[in-house]
Amino acid sequence: MTEPELLVLRGGRVFDPALELDAIADVVIERGRLTHVGAGAGSGLAPSARVRVVDVTGHWLLPAFVDLHAHLREPGQEYKEDIASGLGAAAAGGYAHVCVMPNTRPVNDTRAVTELMRARAAEVGGPTLHPIAAITVGQRGQDLTEMGELREAGAVGVSDDGVCVMNAQVMRRALEYAKTFDLVVIQHAEDHDLTAGAQMHEGAVSARLGLGGWPRVAEDVIVARDVLLAEYVGARYHVAHVSTLGAVRILREAKSRGLPVTAEVTPHHLLLTDAAVIGYDTACKVNPPLREAADLAALRAALADGTIDAIATDHAPHSSLEKDCEFAEASPGMMGLEPCFALLLGLVGQEGITLTRLVDAMSTRPARIAGIEPPRLKVGALAELTVVDPAALWTPAHSALASKARNTPFLEHELRGRIRATFARGQLVLDRLGSAG
Ligand code: DOR
Repeated sequence: MTEPELLVLRGGRVFDPALELDAIADVVIERGRLTHVGAGAGSGLAPSARVRVVDVTGHWLLPAFVDLHAHLREPGQEYKEDIASGLGAAAAGGYAHVCVMPNTRPVNDTRAVTELMRARAAEVGGPTLHPIAAITVGQRGQDLTEMGELREAGAVGVSDDGVCVMNAQVMRRALEYAKTFDLVVIQHAEDHDLTAGAQMHEGAVSARLGLGGWPRVAEDVIVARDVLLAEYVGARYHVAHVSTLGAVRILREAKSRGLPVTAEVTPHHLLLTDAAVIGYDTACKVNPPLREAADLAALRAALADGTIDAIATDHAPHSSLEKDCEFAEASPGMMGLEPCFALLLGLVGQEGITLTRLVDAMSTRPARIAGIEPPRLKVGALAELTVVDPAALWTPAHSALASKARNTPFLEHELRGRIRATFARGQLVLDRLGSAG
């Protein structure tokens, strides 16, 4: 994309809670950096070959989003998604940074895979890819990876996501080892003995459908154990995709004691219950599973009060091969980068969830957890911002998604809140300014 040297975004609502900024203002971006933020800053500038002026009245300018948890499937399963299509989906969703899980083929448990992912992303351009490397070799739960080397190669955290580190001794050593390199340990909290044969949340709906149940306590026991281990070791610990009210209770208690524990929640766990599975819709098969109304309420309250720090997409692209099949055969996962903001905008004003908290949970907090410089709407900062039309209606249509995947129950559902532009690394990586679609 050839870009003008100077871009003026005129008359939008510039909203950056970390700066206590909420004002109608002009933003000028010059060679990738913000050079003016303020009323009338762009008034002397006329459009020319060098200067592009866009009227963004009615739009919001937000710090670009940071996703702590996406599966981009490269290397190894590029038919589901690859780094180019995944980063395209991230740009379309307003993200400037995407942290990428290691359950690729091969697993990202070595410097070589971490470097390959970053090199591929640099070639492709767009949002910045940050690898999360495995905790254990092959994600087999036994031998720790070379975390120092992985850190040096660019990993921002370690996780065996997709599977849980079940062995308490291995988890203890992982927390100790990761601490020496200031890497956050991200746990997929699932006691696999308690979920053997499970297909969905254990409750009235699983009983009715005759599907194996996945009890809440399978998540809760691991979160409780890990909080104790993290406290004992004095290490940073992050819980991926929290889904139960019990886990929320444990996290709230841990935070009240000042422990360095953080957590994320996905849009689907905030919006859907196990009732969505009633038609055996494989798009609603996820790990952890969709829970019940009481869990939704607890997750929303925890997001509102900051007990849950961040919103992460758990973008888990699958093809029709893994999803157009019997429920029991289907792979768990939901794609999520493109519709995430629009899905959650509807929660603002409900149950104490403010726009301030939503932006914090989608940008500043996840950036801090991964040790990424948080995007900021201030003069001198690298342009990493998202332009949103909060009123625009759009539909994640089968024919018009950047991701290769279509595995979401929100496909073809009309949503409110359209991403119009994304700036990442100072560049315009999504440009729908001036388009109505
Ligand atoms: O639903 C999920 N899908 N949960 C996970 O933890 C892994 C992911 C995947 O890789 O598809």
